[in-house]
Amino acid sequence: MTKNSAPDLQDQFANKSQAWSARFSEPVSDLVKRYTASVHFDKRMAHFDIEGSLAHAEMLASIGIISEGDRISIERGMARIREEIDADTFMWSLDLEDVHLNIEKRLVELIGDAGKRLHTGRSRNDQVATDIRLWVRNEIDISVDLLRELRRKLAELALKHAATILPGFTHLQVAQPVTFGHHLLAYAEMFGRDAERLADCRKRVNRLPLGAAALAGTSYPIDRERVARTLGFDGVCRNSLDAVSDRDFAIEFCAAAALIMTHVSRLSEELVLWMSPRVGFIDLADRFCTGSSIMPQKKNPDVPELARGKTGRVNGHLIALLTLMKGQPLAYNKDNQEDKEGLFDSADTIRDTLTIFVDLVGGIRVKSEAMRAAALQGFATATDLADYLVKKGVPFRDAHETVAHAVRMCDERGCDLADLTLEELKGVNELVEDDVFEVLTLEGSVASRKHVGGTAPERVREEAQRVLDETEGSGPQGV
Ligand code: ARG
Repeated sequence: MTKNSAPDLQDQFANKSQAWSARFSEPVSDLVKRYTASVHFDKRMAHFDIEGSLAHAEMLASIGIISEGDRISIERGMARIREEIDADTFMWSLDLEDVHLNIEKRLVELIGDAGKRLHTGRSRNDQVATDIRLWVRNEIDISVDLLRELRRKLAELALKHAATILPGFTHLQVAQPVTFGHHLLAYAEMFGRDAERLADCRKRVNRLPLGAAALAGTSYPIDRERVARTLGFDGVCRNSLDAVSDRDFAIEFCAAAALIMTHVSRLSEELVLWMSPRVGFIDLADRFCTGSSIMPQKKNPDVPELARGKTGRVNGHLIALLTLMKGQPLAYNKDNQEDKEGLFDSADTIRDTLTIFVDLVGGIRVKSEAMRAAALQGFATATDLADYLVKKGVPFRDAHETVAHAVRMCDERGCDLADLTLEELKGVNELVEDDVFEVLTLEGSVASRKHVGGTAPERVREEAQRVLDETEGSGPQGV
């Protein structure tokens, strides 16, 4: 290694206590080194770090701060580093704290002085902010795609079961009959909003912090718009202090992820319930279930249970990030290094969960007969009888009371409203005629709710088709 009069970067990098400058006179302990390092988790941003560096180098060359020769060397060096990372031969070092310093050191090893010039006009503060934004943007695009696929699966199943009837519940008590397709499309709505939320979050993620340097900007005549264009950002962050310290976009992503998991968790809760032999509305494919080591009869819905459980950690990451930010003065503080693990875990969890659920929903086996049998219990058409009387001129509150009496009568006899004879129903209210049986059937009940947002099979078919049309094709924008 050649010795220059100025401190050599290779030497500086060789010992972290010397990595910053000659100002430091003693090394950090191993524990402090581990405590302050982030390379073991931020190395997964390596490809985005390289992409950001290349865009920065291209801009520096375009305004003559580095030579074209240096830019070409940087590109060459970075191409090699990419290969090493992909081949898993890159030597990550804890001594070098994070992904940024690891890559920079390797670049200097590979190309010498040109590598040392790369960091001109930037800081790790704006560099890391840029990397995270690129990383989150990519995760958003993946998640939006997965949400679209999941909505398609829900809509396909809904179309198949547009006329399958099951009891709708409030307070987990039988309320009114609904169609299974309608029930499934409720989740398609939730996941549709989730995709909208991510698309909206993407707008604020997609602004370039680079150029803010450490906190105050830089005295070099940099062209930030150029870098933004190269990296596909919609624009640049307008305040250097905010640019390096803002993590709102990560919080927004974590909030969107928490809602996604919350929706998955609600669906999971229903799947678990529906699969319980006591309910028996569905069966999940074996590949999402496990048995018991002791009870031979068991088939447990592990995947939805675990998804419900994993919602806790994703919700937790949101709170952790909010708490991380709340006490920080401007501008960058080391606290911010704590933003990544939770963020990464939220993204990984929704990605895995959504991927599995696309397959899981596609494999749901519906037991229509059990659903129908359940809907026939619990006087699900009582409201329909009340509405029938209202249409004959009875005030709704009176109709409500009258039907309550009829329900009580059935309850005592152990029969359904539809089992009463016309004479018996006339005894409840003399306005009742023969046509009452149309509304007392499950089919009549659901068919009558055919307004927008209603559960009628014809409406469900239309809505399912709308979701299918909306989610057709590919690409991250197909929300
Ligand atoms: N590893 C750091 C992080 O994740 C990178 C930025 C460090 N900047 C600094 N001045 N220490 O935030």
